[in-house]
Amino acid sequence: MLKSKLSSFFILVISLFLGSTRVYSQQITRTPYLQMVGEKSVLIRYRTNQAILSEVQISNDGKTFSRSKKTSQTTTEHQVLIDSLTASNTYFYRIRLSASQFAGDSTYFFKTAPTVGSQEKFSVWTVGDMYPVGPYQKNVYEGFKKFVGNTYTNLFLTQGDNVYSGGNDDDFQTNFFQIYQNGPLLKQSALFPSVGNHDYDAYPKTQDFPDMAYFQNFTLPTKGELGGLASGSESYYSFDYGNTHFVCLDSYAYGKDNKRIFDGPSDQLTWLKNDLKATKQLWKVVYFHFPPYTKGTYDSDSDKFPELINLRAILPKVFDENNVDLVLSGHSHVFERSKPLKNQYGLSSEFNKSVHWPQSSSGRYDKSTNSCPYLFSTGNTDKNGVIYVVNGVGGGPGTLKYGLHPVMETSLAGQAGSFYFEINGKRLDAKFINEEGNVLDQFTIFKDLNLKASSTQTINYFDKLDLSASWSGDYVWSNGEKTKNIKVNPIENTVFKVSDPQNCFQESFDIKVNPPLAIQSMEESVNIPFESLTVYDLLGRKTKEFKQSGMINKELIAELNPGLHILIYIQNGQEKSLKIRTNSY
Ligand SMILES: [Fe+2]
Repeated sequence: MLKSKLSSFFILVISLFLGSTRVYSQQITRTPYLQMVGEKSVLIRYRTNQAILSEVQISNDGKTFSRSKKTSQTTTEHQVLIDSLTASNTYFYRIRLSASQFAGDSTYFFKTAPTVGSQEKFSVWTVGDMYPVGPYQKNVYEGFKKFVGNTYTNLFLTQGDNVYSGGNDDDFQTNFFQIYQNGPLLKQSALFPSVGNHDYDAYPKTQDFPDMAYFQNFTLPTKGELGGLASGSESYYSFDYGNTHFVCLDSYAYGKDNKRIFDGPSDQLTWLKNDLKATKQLWKVVYFHFPPYTKGTYDSDSDKFPELINLRAILPKVFDENNVDLVLSGHSHVFERSKPLKNQYGLSSEFNKSVHWPQSSSGRYDKSTNSCPYLFSTGNTDKNGVIYVVNGVGGGPGTLKYGLHPVMETSLAGQAGSFYFEINGKRLDAKFINEEGNVLDQFTIFKDLNLKASSTQTINYFDKLDLSASWSGDYVWSNGEKTKNIKVNPIENTVFKVSDPQNCFQESFDIKVNPPLAIQSMEESVNIPFESLTVYDLLGRKTKEFKQSGMINKELIAELNPGLHILIYIQNGQEKSLKIRTNSY
């Protein structure tokens, strides 16, 4: 009997041990990454070492996880769609791998997209050509993390050639996911990659090739789910985020029509034209792998690279016609950034800056000479242009093998880095960040900035007035104020001026002040009830305040010094004013 009890005990201990071993051997082998992030939903993807059922739990505060969604079948490739979310809201999440095992901490959170068309600020990190040679790829990410600090990054875009060692799943695991999971990016930011030639290395040059690791690893909007026209392809797609329309192209592979985008008319090109034409968003950003203009490790003038010449003959015209603001590419291992460019479809020898550069500023807006922001307009597009960025240095320092391309404002050799931009309403600020986290190039665009060069308003004596500068940024007012909105109280005609510290923008407000109220004698003023009353001298200085309701009468006036006074009082919820002269009653 005792022997039987003892053996039962040992069996229990062994099974508990085995059970616990099985439970705790379940691990996440690919950190969660966020796909299809929209206003109301997000698709969370992650990988486990064993095929299991799992569950994503959602929290508003990181403490109480009140919602959850389970996977429907055992798998190692988990894809959990979380819906019914609120736009522009932060959600914490954790992953339940077993009854007692969770993955997730306070760094596991995401933000849903702002409402489409809203002016809410958001930020984008982009990187291209992440070839794994030496420490550069990690350093570029470290440099960005140092630059951005604790500021949340909404979007993570890539400019293709996400991996270089064959393009299979191991390559993605080692050289993409394991690099960018070491920090906030994959867990927190919405990932919308583009595909490059090396992503296709081990596969046919066929868009949406189903066995290709890129298409297996990423879930991208093919049906216009996040705004834009349905592309029917994960190779090229578009989406809206806040007030911006993003378009991702495949510049390398053949579509179902057996055409590449640089071959001439194609399904992808038709979709692109229709998609850009249809969007009403304020900003338009297009990204893809091959650059239309470069002198880095490729030369967009050379017959050796006909795909670049052909690409340039097709795409920039479409971008010009549809007022695209920013085009991001990679492929050429260099950082190059153009001034706003338009109507330049030929070789660099055909470039004419007086024709093709509608704006002459460097756009840097950093107090250097000739560096005021670029000014774009949706109503009058004469001075608009497209800024082309070649950002193929996510895996190593660039070279300018073929010299300087004349359309470029900035060409940087010897620098690995990444490109970051923020869109804040009608302002776009962009920066190139190197491995150390330093900004080596930057530019600013303002769109639809209608400066009030001179405006006139008339107010009554002693009325208060709100004045507001038209741009987002920094302000120097003629009265010393430094905020966007100021409250003024002029007692005579006054011109208020505001500029930015670099003096790129000036606005002037000419305020005419109606003559003061006629002076009333004390007898006329008696017995006026008020809810509250403030007394000022003629220089606008407060001399007395009555916060309780009362009556303007002899007794009250007797409390004032002899002389002129402005009485501002609230009567029936309305502000009224009175100018009186008091004698020595
Ligand atoms: Fe490439």
